[in-house]
Amino acid sequence: MNPPGASGGGKKGGAGVLEVIGLTVRSGEGRALVSDLSFAIEPGARLGLIGESGSGKSLTALAIMGLLPAGMTVSGSIVLDAPGLARTDVIGAAERHLKGLRGRGATVVFQEPLTALDPLMKIGRQLAEPLRRVRGLRGAALRRAVVTALEEVRLPTPGRVAKAYPHEISGGQRQRVAIAMALACEPALLIADEPTTALDVTVQAEVLALLDGLVTARGMALLFISHDLAVVSSVTDHVIVLKDGVAVETGDVLDIVTSPRHPYTRDLVTSARRLDSALDWTHP
Ligand SMILES: Nc1ncnc2c1ncn2[C@@H]1O[C@H](COP(=O)(O)OP(=O)(O)O)[C@@H](O)[C@H]1O
Ligand SMILES: [Mg+2]
Repeated sequence: MNPPGASGGGKKGGAGVLEVIGLTVRSGEGRALVSDLSFAIEPGARLGLIGESGSGKSLTALAIMGLLPAGMTVSGSIVLDAPGLARTDVIGAAERHLKGLRGRGATVVFQEPLTALDPLMKIGRQLAEPLRRVRGLRGAALRRAVVTALEEVRLPTPGRVAKAYPHEISGGQRQRVAIAMALACEPALLIADEPTTALDVTVQAEVLALLDGLVTARGMALLFISHDLAVVSSVTDHVIVLKDGVAVETGDVLDIVTSPRHPYTRDLVTSARRLDSALDWTHP
C-alpha cells in the first residue's frame, strides 16, 4: 500500500514530518498487534487513523513516541523529521535522544486528560514546566505565558484554573489544559488519540473545534485517532482504516464514506450513520 500523503517519487528523506514504513508491533508472546503499517504526514498535513477498539491505534501512537509498553517488540521504521531537530528513526533510537524529540518533535493528547496531568500539582505549575523547558521562559514572563496558554484553549477563568488542582475542574476543562500543555511544547506533530471520547457530546464538539482551530493556526501536522468515523471526518480529509493492526483501507474520508470497499469499513460507516452528527455529510 502506498503511504498516503507521502511525497512523490519515493525520494529517500522526503518532506514528511513523519514517515512510518512497515511498522510492526508484537506482544511479548509474538502476537502481531500492528502489522506492516506505512504512512506519511507532511508538515501541516492531517491524517486520521480509524478503527474499532483494540485495532492497534494507540499502540501506533505509542510507537511513534517511543513509548511502547516493555516486553513488546517493534520493527520497521518511524522517521520523525521536525524543524530544528535531528532527523531520527524512533525505532532503535536511544531513550536520551527520544526525550529531546518528545515535545518539540511530537506530542500526544490522550483520551483521558488525567493521564497527562499530575493530580498533586496545581495546573499553572504543570503548564509552566514545558513553557520553561521549551521556550526558556522565567519569572513574570513565564506567569504571563501560562495565562496566555490557558486563554488560548478558551478557558474562561485562566487565573482560577492556574491555581486549581486537576480534580477541581471539569473533564472538558482538563482536556483543554492537556491540549495547552501539548501546544506549549510547540510540536511539529500533534497526535490526538481519541481526545474527545471521554467527554459529553456537547463538550466534545467544542474541544474538537478548538483543536481544529489551533492546529490550523499553528500549522502543526496532526495524526488524529478515533474509533468514530463521524469525529474523524470532521477533522481530517484523509484516513487510514485499521483492523486488527492491519490497514485495510486508505483514502479520502469522502470516498470512504460514499464507497467503502472493505466490509469492516462499511460497518464503521453504517454505525457512524446512526449518529445524527454524521448526517450532515451523508445527506448534503
Ligand atoms: N500492554 C499491553 N500488553 C499486551 N497487549 C496489549 C497491551 N496494550 C494493548 N494491547 C493489545 O494490543 C491491541 C491493540 O491495542 P490498542 O492499540 O490499545 O487498540 P486501540 O487503541 O485501537 O483501541 C489490543 O488487542 C490490545 O489488547
Ligand atoms: Mg486506543
